[in-house]
Amino acid sequence: MPDKVVKAGDVNQRVGVEVIAKRGVDVPKLIKMLIANAGAEFASTYYYYTILRMRLAGHEDYKEICEDARLEDRAHWELIVPRIYELGGELPNDLKAFHDQAGCAAAKLPDPPTVVNILTLLLESERCAIRSWSEVCDMTFGKDPRTYDMAARILNEEVEHEAWFIELLAHERDGKIVPSGHFRRGDPGHAPYSKNAGFYNP
Ligand SMILES: [Fe+2]
Ligand SMILES: [Fe+2]
Repeated sequence: MPDKVVKAGDVNQRVGVEVIAKRGVDVPKLIKMLIANAGAEFASTYYYYTILRMRLAGHEDYKEICEDARLEDRAHWELIVPRIYELGGELPNDLKAFHDQAGCAAAKLPDPPTVVNILTLLLESERCAIRSWSEVCDMTFGKDPRTYDMAARILNEEVEHEAWFIELLAHERDGKIVPSGHFRRGDPGHAPYSKNAGFYNP
């Protein structure tokens, strides 16, 4: 990524990239990470959580929480994509290639698809997301406020998702109470951080 000053009228370079490269952001690496994270949100989780949520029927409380996590991961995908293009990157023009470079393993229906196995898979998927978004936060902190703000909003929700699935798995598998500290979202997929919506604070 060139670190020289963008000339007036140049539509092939971006000042928005020039300034963050100057501050030490490895922009091509950042774009690659954002595409991998977009793949994890859209393909590894949003798509497969749809299937997992179907299989939680009969546990309406678990189903509802899974739905919130599913829709919030879709909100994350929507939030990341514009930033990839702003930075001069683009999505692979091939869905299979996009899926295959995702930063987290696909959350495929486990065998056997028991509630405990599904909750375990959901929990570990959220943990992968926390690791990936923390990495983006570390790469951009103090250097690229726009990507940092986005990554921090997503990370806030991933941390909540982990807490939800710890609470549900501990209850279902171990008969233990490990509180998440939260109550349900407002509407399904409320996404208070990534959609800049109001927090639950009655
Ligand atoms: Fe997510
Ligand atoms: Fe999540």
